[in-house]
Amino acid sequence: MPEAPSGRRPYMVGNWKMHKTIVEARAYVEELLSSLGAAGGHVDVGVCPPYTALAAAVDGFDGTGVRVFAQNMSAARDGAETGEVSAPMLLELGVAGVVLGHSERRRDQGETDRALGEKVLAALDAGLEPILCVGETEQERDGGEMQRRLRHQVQEGLDQVPPERLGEVTIAYEPVWAIGTDRSATPEQAQEAIAFVRALVGDRSEEAAERVRVLYGGSVKPDNAADIFSQPDVDGALVGGASLEAADFAELVAAAAG
Ligand code: 13P
Repeated sequence: MPEAPSGRRPYMVGNWKMHKTIVEARAYVEELLSSLGAAGGHVDVGVCPPYTALAAAVDGFDGTGVRVFAQNMSAARDGAETGEVSAPMLLELGVAGVVLGHSERRRDQGETDRALGEKVLAALDAGLEPILCVGETEQERDGGEMQRRLRHQVQEGLDQVPPERLGEVTIAYEPVWAIGTDRSATPEQAQEAIAFVRALVGDRSEEAAERVRVLYGGSVKPDNAADIFSQPDVDGALVGGASLEAADFAELVAAAAG
């Protein structure tokens, strides 16, 4: 994926979800670093290990430019929130950013757009890069509700971010029906939805819309990545299953490098 005329750098992020122990994470880091090759120089690369493997990943990728993201955080700095982790705690570990509003958390943990708006701001204020996930269900798409759903998710999720900071957020468009299903969106579907997401950011700031990176997520694999990445508004991908093997993920990074 050649760098867009706007100068947005391709971005590939692997979401490990609830996979990999510390030992497995260490082995992955080594393998990824030895497989990335020159492609890593043209693409921003990130991984999202579970909390328990964050320190090992931060340590292993230290000085390599590969960014390490948490998969969630609390909006609060501290407090009586059993089981939660705050932005200062992640920063202390050396984590670069945090994935917020993944559809699995929206579905299983009841994350709301309003609460996510607070988390996005808390992450930015702390110096963490938020990756805000949005996406419609199959029912919403079939019912002609995709745009309404995305509008709500993007507007509420970014509501508290001042316009001049919107470009610091990364957005991942992940249609729920494409996640873990082997049924990726077509390149045209990804382009249409991502252009719409970018236009929503443009309603707040034209400059931010040019700068903000919007990734596609949902069954991205080495055999469909290049077509999806060739779309003008697609800046890269948030990858689940195909990021779990370092060699496959390195192949995807190479596809993003074009
Ligand atoms: P898959 O790539 O496994 O479909 O998962 C996508 C995803 O949810 C990334 O956050």
